[in-house]
Amino acid sequence: MAEPKENVLMEKITSLCKRRGFIFQSSEIYGGIQGFWDYGPLGAELKRNVKEAWWTTMTRMRDDVVGLEATIIMAPQIWKASGHVDTFSDPMCDCLLTKKRFRADQIEPQSGNAYHYTGAKDSVSGREVAEPYAVLLAAGKPPESARKTAAQFYAQRGLQAVELLGETVEKVENSQRYNPENGSLLTPPVPFNLMFKTYVGPTATEADVAYLRPETAQAIFAQFKNVHETSRQKVPFGIAQMGKAFRNEVTPRNYTFRSREFEQMELEFFIAPDEAVEAVTGAVATPAAKGHPGEPQPNWGWQMWHQYWVEERIKFYEGIGLPRTTLEEYWQKSEELAHYARACVDILFKFPFGTQELEGIAARSDFDLSQHERSSGKPMGVFDEELRTAFGKLPPEKQTELKDRYYQARLKYLTKMGVDIAKAGAEAQEDADGLAKGQYIPHVIEPSAGVDRLILALIANAFTEVTETDAKGKSETRVVMKFHPRIAPIKVAVLPLLKNKPELANKARAIFESLRPHMMAFHDEAGSIGRRYARQDEAGTPFCVTVDFETFEGIKDGPQAGVKDTVTIRHRDDGRQERLAISELLPWLLARVR
Ligand code: GAP
Repeated sequence: MAEPKENVLMEKITSLCKRRGFIFQSSEIYGGIQGFWDYGPLGAELKRNVKEAWWTTMTRMRDDVVGLEATIIMAPQIWKASGHVDTFSDPMCDCLLTKKRFRADQIEPQSGNAYHYTGAKDSVSGREVAEPYAVLLAAGKPPESARKTAAQFYAQRGLQAVELLGETVEKVENSQRYNPENGSLLTPPVPFNLMFKTYVGPTATEADVAYLRPETAQAIFAQFKNVHETSRQKVPFGIAQMGKAFRNEVTPRNYTFRSREFEQMELEFFIAPDEAVEAVTGAVATPAAKGHPGEPQPNWGWQMWHQYWVEERIKFYEGIGLPRTTLEEYWQKSEELAHYARACVDILFKFPFGTQELEGIAARSDFDLSQHERSSGKPMGVFDEELRTAFGKLPPEKQTELKDRYYQARLKYLTKMGVDIAKAGAEAQEDADGLAKGQYIPHVIEPSAGVDRLILALIANAFTEVTETDAKGKSETRVVMKFHPRIAPIKVAVLPLLKNKPELANKARAIFESLRPHMMAFHDEAGSIGRRYARQDEAGTPFCVTVDFETFEGIKDGPQAGVKDTVTIRHRDDGRQERLAISELLPWLLARVR
C-alpha cells in the first residue's frame, strides 16, 4: 500500500528514510498497513532524542511541571465526559463508483457541469435501476465522458446494456460532492468516530467496549487530583505526559504526518481563573505586546499564560534546530475554536507538502476538569488559602463583582453542557460562593505536540543536497542531514584513518568505548575515509573523530607541533577539521550534544 508521492522533495526524503533506516512502512513484508510507520535504527535514536529534549525542557528544567505516565486504555467514561465518544469524528464519504473513501472536508472543491441521471434501464432485459447518480465534468468536456462513467455505475448494479434515463445538466461551483479523480458523485458525508474500539475482558459485549486513547491529555485530567496531592505542587503548575495516541484517520496521508498510531507530547498547565488572580493581586495582567512576556508573575491571567507557552514552545523548537523562519503562528478564528476553547494557536511548519500544524496551544478554560467532576462525581477543584484570605479583605462591591463574573462563566459552561437552567443557576451560585472561600476548578493551557510530525519536520529541515566536483571534473550530489547535535541520532563517529594499521584501529576502538556510555557513538572501519565521512553525513552525525598517524607520532607542524595523543574532529556542516587532545574529547563533545 504505497502512499501517493507528494512531490520530488518528499520522494527524496522518503527514499532516504528507507535507505538509511530512519522510517519503514509498518508490516512492509505483507504489503504494509496504511497509516502505520516503524522507526528504524536511526529513526529510533532520533525519536528518543526528541522526546528526551521535550521531557527535559518541559519537566526536569522546571520547578512547576511534573510528569505522568498513564495507560493507553482507560475507563470508557473518560471519553464520554471529554466529548470524544459523541463528537470526535470527521465527516466521511465514499465514491459511489470506486468506493474510495474521502474526508469530506478535505476534498478539493470542483466546478463544472454536473450530469444527473434519474436511473438506467437494461435495453435487453428491460430491468430498471431507479437509483439517481451524477458525474461532474470540467467545463468544455464532452458529455460522452459523463455517460461512460454513469454507465459503469449502473453496470455495477447488474445492468448489461445500459440505457441512461432522465439526463439533466447543472452548472456547479466549488462543490465537494464529487470525486476529484473521476467526477463520480460521492455518498452524503456521515460523521465517522476516530477512536479505535476494543474490548476489555473475555466477553466481547457492548458493556466491555473500551477505546485506545486518541490523546494523552485526558489521563492528565483524570489523574489531576492524585498528582496535585502527591507532588506538593500549587496552581499554577503543569503535568506533562508523552506517549502513544491512536486515531482511525479517514485518510492518513503525507507520510507520517497524519498517521493512525502516533505519539504525542502534551502539557496541561493548570492556572487559577482570572477572578481568583484579580482577588489576590488586585488586577490581572494581559499581554501588552507580542513576543515572550518574560518570567511568570502572580498577576498573570490566562492570556499571559497562553502567550507565554506559545513563546516557550517556539523557543523549544529553535533549541532543537527549527529556526523561527521555518515556523508560523496561526491564531484560530473564534468560529474555528473548539466550543470549550478561549483561544488556540497552531504552530505551523513549512513541510514540503505545505505549511501545516506541528503543535496546538489551546486555552481550554476549566472545561476538562469540570466535565470529569460532573461525570465522576469526584471533586476536581483546589483550595487556595491565599485566595480565601484575600477575598475576605476585598470591599463588598469588589467581592460581588468577582463572584458575579465567576457565576456567569460557570453558568455559561453548565448551560452549554445541557444542564437545565434552574439546576445550572444553583450550581453556578455554589461555585461562586466557593470562590469566595478559596475554591475553584483550575483552568488549563495545553501545549500539545506530535512526536512523529516533529520528526518529519526535523528530517525535512535537515535534508540538504550537496554537489561536489572532484579533481577529474566529475560531480556528485549527496545528502547531508544537518540535524542539530542535540537531536542527531549519532553524535559522534570514531574512525581509524586506515583499517589495516592495528595501532590506529585499536586506538579508535578504545576512544569509541570511552565515549559510548555518554552518548550515541559509532565506530566504522570499512571503506575509504571519504566514503565513511559521506555515510555519516547522510546519517546526520555532527562530528567525526579520526585517529591518524599524528595521534601517535605527534602533530606535524603548526604551534602544536610534536604534541601526541590528539585526534582530528571533522564538522559535518562545513567539513572543517580541527585537532583536539583525546583527554579533552568527551567534555568537548558533551558541551555540544546536550
Ligand atoms: N489534546 C489536544 C490534541 O490532541 P490535536 O490538535 O488533535 O490536539 C495535537 O493533536 C498534536 O498531535 C497535533 O498538533 C499533531 O502534532 C499531533 N497529531 C494529531 N493527530 C495526528 C495524526 N493523525 N498523526 C500524527 N500526529 C498527529
